[in-house]
Amino acid sequence: MIALRTDREIEHIRASCKVVGLAHRALKDLISPGIRTEELDRIAEEVVRDNGAEPAFKGYHGYPATICISINEQVVHGIPGPREIQEGDLVSIDIGAKLNGYYGDQAISFAVGEVSPEVDKLMKVTRESLFKGIEQGSKGGRLGDICGAIQSWVEQHGFAIVRQFVGHGIGRSLHEDPAVPNYVPLDRNPRLRKGLVLAIEPMVNLGRPEVSVAADGWTASASDGLHSAHFEHVVAISDEEPSILTMTEEEIGIEQPDR
Ligand code: MF3
Ligand code: CO
Repeated sequence: MIALRTDREIEHIRASCKVVGLAHRALKDLISPGIRTEELDRIAEEVVRDNGAEPAFKGYHGYPATICISINEQVVHGIPGPREIQEGDLVSIDIGAKLNGYYGDQAISFAVGEVSPEVDKLMKVTRESLFKGIEQGSKGGRLGDICGAIQSWVEQHGFAIVRQFVGHGIGRSLHEDPAVPNYVPLDRNPRLRKGLVLAIEPMVNLGRPEVSVAADGWTASASDGLHSAHFEHVVAISDEEPSILTMTEEEIGIEQPDR
C-alpha cells in the first residue's frame, strides 16, 4: 500500500530530515585521517538526540548504530567501529532519524583529501544520477521515470548500478512502499501522485554490480573490491516541482562544484 502524505505530514518528514542534515553537518568537518568511525557515530547520535529525535537505524532489524559508514569498496550498511579514516578514503555516511513519529534518511559520499580521478568521477556521477532521478519526480509521471533516469546516467558513464539494495517510500516507517530501484523495469510502476514521499538512493559501483554481505550480517561490499558511492535524498511529489525534504549539500556546508 502506497501512502500519500498531507502537507502537514510532509513538514514533519522535513523536520526529521533536517535533524539528519544537522548530523551530517556535524560530521563533515570531522571526517579526516585518524578519526575512528565509532567516534563519528557517537557524535551523530548526540546531534540526533540533542534535537529531540531518535536514531532510526539503531535497533532496526538489530542494526547496532546511528550511522552506516561504508568505506571504499563498501557499498552500504558498514558498521561503525575502531577503524580509522585514512587519507584518500571514499567515505559514505548514511543517517536516519525519527522525530514526532516521522522518519528522515540521507546519505552522502565524501572524499577524504585526494582520491583518484576515477573515484572522483564515480562520486560525481552518482550524485548527478540522484538529481537526474529527482528531476523526473513530477506529478503525472511514473516511478519508473525516476528509476530509469538514474540508471541511464550511471550506465552511460560506464559505472554499475547496485541491484541488491533499493530506495524506498518513507514517512511513518523508515521503509515503506514503493520500492525505488535504481533501474528499470519495475515489478510495479505506480503513478507519481502528490503526497508520495520517496527516499531515492543510488548506490553505484566503479566495476561490477555484484555485492557481498560480510560475516557481520550487514556490511555490503562490491564483490570485485572496487570503490562504491552512495547519495540519498528524501523527495516529496507535489503539484509543482518535486520538493527535496532533506537538507541540500549547500545547506549542510559541503561545496559541490555543480549539480
Ligand atoms: N538508507 C539506508 C536504507 O534506507 C540505511 C538503512 S540502515 C538500517 O536502507 F540499518 F536501517 F538498515
Ligand atoms: Co534509505
